[in-house]
Amino acid sequence: MYPKLVVTRILPPDTQARLEELPFELVQWQQDSAMPRDELLRAVKGADALICLLTDKIDTELLDAAGPQLKVIASMAVGFDHIDVEAVKARNIHLGYTPDCLTDATADLTVLLTLAAARRMKEGMLAGANGEWGTWRPTWLCGSQFTRKTVGIIGMGRIGEAVARRLEPFGVKQTLYWGRQQKPDAEKRVVTATFEPDLDTLLSKSDYVIVCCALTPHTREMFTYDKFAKMKKSAIFVNTARGGIVKQDDLIRALQERQIKAAGLDVTTPEPLPTDSPLFHLPNCVVLPHIASATFETRERMASMCVDNVEAAMKNEPLPFKL
Ligand code: GLV
Repeated sequence: MYPKLVVTRILPPDTQARLEELPFELVQWQQDSAMPRDELLRAVKGADALICLLTDKIDTELLDAAGPQLKVIASMAVGFDHIDVEAVKARNIHLGYTPDCLTDATADLTVLLTLAAARRMKEGMLAGANGEWGTWRPTWLCGSQFTRKTVGIIGMGRIGEAVARRLEPFGVKQTLYWGRQQKPDAEKRVVTATFEPDLDTLLSKSDYVIVCCALTPHTREMFTYDKFAKMKKSAIFVNTARGGIVKQDDLIRALQERQIKAAGLDVTTPEPLPTDSPLFHLPNCVVLPHIASATFETRERMASMCVDNVEAAMKNEPLPFKL
């Protein structure tokens, strides 16, 4: 009898083909939508391995539903706020995730959103399509550029550093970063980088505030109205990490009151964001539907890392991409 592998979504084509060749009893959600919780709880019963997405909550209820034979959980994400890591580890279940492979794609999209918000791309596109494109005007749709500006990075991890490295050639003067600790190695690679342990100082000095940190109890809703009020009125706020890091109603208020200039968001609360959310309708807010890692190359790699993790665990080998 083959071991049972539950996969909560169809994977990108190359990895899906590989998956189907593996010696597993494969139980896979066939629709391009999150596997309903009750279906998942039913499907995991008796599973030896689980490949899940960030939309699947991995908690005690799920682990209990699976049963004690569950050997490995491979999550197709770098963020792991959907997983009760302690509960998984307490049961000696191997836990894998997909770091590094999505750093470039995510950093690229972060730069895109930062530029889009700073250069008023949404207003420009709408103005063109709505027939408001009159004659060339000296100050029409003027935004801001990076030259000699200060970039504030919240969380100088892999993605934060990749964003900072991409922005340096645009001519930034200074990159301040905030996080749990100073990162001397990152400072060698990002020559404009300086650690700023005081968040309020970073916020008041930065022209761009870019959130790249993990969602943890420490960072949950750290961006309140009070924090937006500390930023420059010309500040651009970008979040490609997790919506939960921002108190969203406070961000909406800050954008409506022009407390800050504009925002670029790839993550929101909830996801999907309801279409009547003011964030979609504010001219100074660009929202993308959580697609920072969405390149064919990256998504294929993320999926294959999950399969690598599952295969390793089944052979009683260490996980190559262990959380
Ligand atoms: C995406 O948000 C991820 O955590 O991989």
